Amino acid sequence: MNALELLLSRRSVSRLTTPVPAGDELQNILAAGMRAPDHGALRPWHFIVMQGEGIDKFSKLLEQAAINGEMGKDVAEKAKNAPYRAPMIITVIAKVVEHVKVPEWEQVVAAGCSVHAMQMAAVAQGFGGIWRSGSWTEDSTVRAGLGCEEHDKIVGFLYLGTPELKSPMKMPSPDLTDFVSYF
Ligand SMILES: Cc1cc2nc3c(=O)[nH]c(=O)nc-3n(C[C@H](O)[C@H](O)[C@H](O)COP(=O)(O)O)c2cc1C
Repeated sequence: MNALELLLSRRSVSRLTTPVPAGDELQNILAAGMRAPDHGALRPWHFIVMQGEGIDKFSKLLEQAAINGEMGKDVAEKAKNAPYRAPMIITVIAKVVEHVKVPEWEQVVAAGCSVHAMQMAAVAQGFGGIWRSGSWTEDSTVRAGLGCEEHDKIVGFLYLGTPELKSPMKMPSPDLTDFVSYF
């Protein structure tokens, strides 16, 4: 797929199934994440790939977070089921460090760029995905379970797999008037 075509037509896909990216496909996705723009070459990110038992573990972790937070049975059930919306999840954590030239926000944005790059690399290889976040990114049980350190930020859970529906609806071209000016 042509790069411009990919960028102009890409859609997120929430209904995902197997097969998942494997072998070189997965390596390409991770390598694309590693090529995100990165002030100071800090590589301020960490990727956690979950599939199979990893998804089961993540499901238990979210359920435990709901229990620890006394969020009630319904929330715990929803939390437990959430990771099964895709057969693969890559959690992206911004590993924020103190730096004289690169403030925290730049490091978090760089980690965010890595999520998008990985999503696009998945689409380019025939897969689909959706970047999800939610309150779990700030939850202490989830953060501890994923090995977060004090200054780390979970910037997203990239759900990946094969789209269940072959052609997600195309978005109409946006009117740029309200979003662009020329100086
Ligand atoms: C940082 C970030 C967090 C997001 N979190 C969620 C989320 O938790 N749940 C969700 O349905 N979409 C979330 N989205 C939006 C989807 O990834 C997606 O962009 C949206 O559904 C629009 O679809 P599109 O990408 O095809 O335009 C998030 C996007 C970003 C950039």
